[in-house]
Amino acid sequence: MMANTQGTTGLRGWIDERFPLTQLWREHLGEYFAPPNFNFMFIFGVLSLVVLVNQLVTGLWLTMNYKPSAAEAFASVEYIMRDVDWGWLIRYMHSTGASAFFIVVYLHMFRGLMYGSYKKPRELVWLIGMLIFLSLMAESFFGYLLPWGQMSYWGAQVIISLFGAIPGIGDDLTLWIRGDYVVSDVTLNRFFALHVVAIPIALLGLVVAHVIALHHVGSNNPEGIEIKKYVDEHGKPLDGIPFHPYYTVKDLVGIVIFLFIFAFVVFYWPDGGGYFLEHPNFEPANPLKTPEHIAPVWYFTPYYAILRAIPDKLTGVIAMGLSIVLLFFLPWLDRCPVKSIRYRGVTWKIALMLFAISFVVLGYVGAKPPNDTLTFIARCFGIIYFAFFLGMPFYTRNEKTKPVPERVSFQTVTVQGAGEAKSAVPFGEVDKARMSAQ
Ligand code: HEM
Repeated sequence: MMANTQGTTGLRGWIDERFPLTQLWREHLGEYFAPPNFNFMFIFGVLSLVVLVNQLVTGLWLTMNYKPSAAEAFASVEYIMRDVDWGWLIRYMHSTGASAFFIVVYLHMFRGLMYGSYKKPRELVWLIGMLIFLSLMAESFFGYLLPWGQMSYWGAQVIISLFGAIPGIGDDLTLWIRGDYVVSDVTLNRFFALHVVAIPIALLGLVVAHVIALHHVGSNNPEGIEIKKYVDEHGKPLDGIPFHPYYTVKDLVGIVIFLFIFAFVVFYWPDGGGYFLEHPNFEPANPLKTPEHIAPVWYFTPYYAILRAIPDKLTGVIAMGLSIVLLFFLPWLDRCPVKSIRYRGVTWKIALMLFAISFVVLGYVGAKPPNDTLTFIARCFGIIYFAFFLGMPFYTRNEKTKPVPERVSFQTVTVQGAGEAKSAVPFGEVDKARMSAQ
């Protein structure tokens, strides 16, 4: 049988003539050249994919027994927990998966900050990532109403009422979102439709776009060096290694470790101390009884703390929106040409550390019932949070950076039979030494 342009025959050849299967495999796995020096911070993109699949699969199975109606929703979740075969496991995998999603996505974003992955040429990868982040927030907000517990109900009430602060259209807008004068069966139905159909489709499309955009420009690495600068006669980056099998195997190790931790939480700690499943949500929604303390799930609390820190509702809502929107502008706020934290100045290192601390402190404060001391703390750390972004064009402009190496290198590499290759050896050279030693 004659080989086609991809050099494939048989069934694969037949498919390749009609669908670019081998071409896709080569472009995204077999011949996608990744830097050889990814560290463990680079696992969280893949883990986000793993959690996304978990959410889609468990969500599909939950939908088979869940009833999206105000009269039946709470009881149907109890039914899943008690009577449906393995229902408890599927539900806990989904609820723990929601928190796991935000943990891995926050770490994934923080990796971006550490190594300047949002900078040229990856601005679009970052922007698409931010759209994913917004969709993820919408997805979890809509999903949180579905169990129709006390916190589902009152949380939705509080968040939707925030839109009421918008001058002129506020009241009409809240009515339009709820579809009723209060959160009701109508609201539950539309949130269900958005949670199971609209947002998952958007998320999937965005994730595909995210990976296509990344593979177009190539991956960053802990050194912040562009490996595409040095290519061989076939256009292959000299310092690149094929994603498959090198990173498929390496990522598998990270995935297995993650799954161990995930399974431990699912089996032994599914409520996450009241943070993954809030305790008032074990009570059915009661429109006549407000819970003592209403707080969103932990992953929203940093923004909630910013909202609460400002006495004026509209200003609070604007500040909360801004705290997320500012992330979109990161590629243009950061003026330093150096990407990796390894070679950046001390001001950046301090700023990034303060930002991470402010995010955690705001998250803690936002989860607690408000008092004067906590409000004061939220204001101080809110200022640090905003100063990180708004001051960035100034403190990054003339940053004192260290020289960035030209090529990906290792400090000391021992090559069996070829002795020890000392400091700053380009990866390609190490490869050659290894080959000649064999
Ligand atoms: C469902 C959520 C997400 C999934 C499944 C996902 C998936 C991935 C994957 C598989 C990679 C390549 C592996 C890696 O570098 O870690 C990646 C890279 C990247 N992602 Fe995401 N991502 C998600 C959300 C986000 C968000 C919210 C942002 C930031 C706003 C973001 C920004 C980036 C950037 C900048 C890169 C390039 C990293 C580099 O080359 O250094 N991603 N993403």
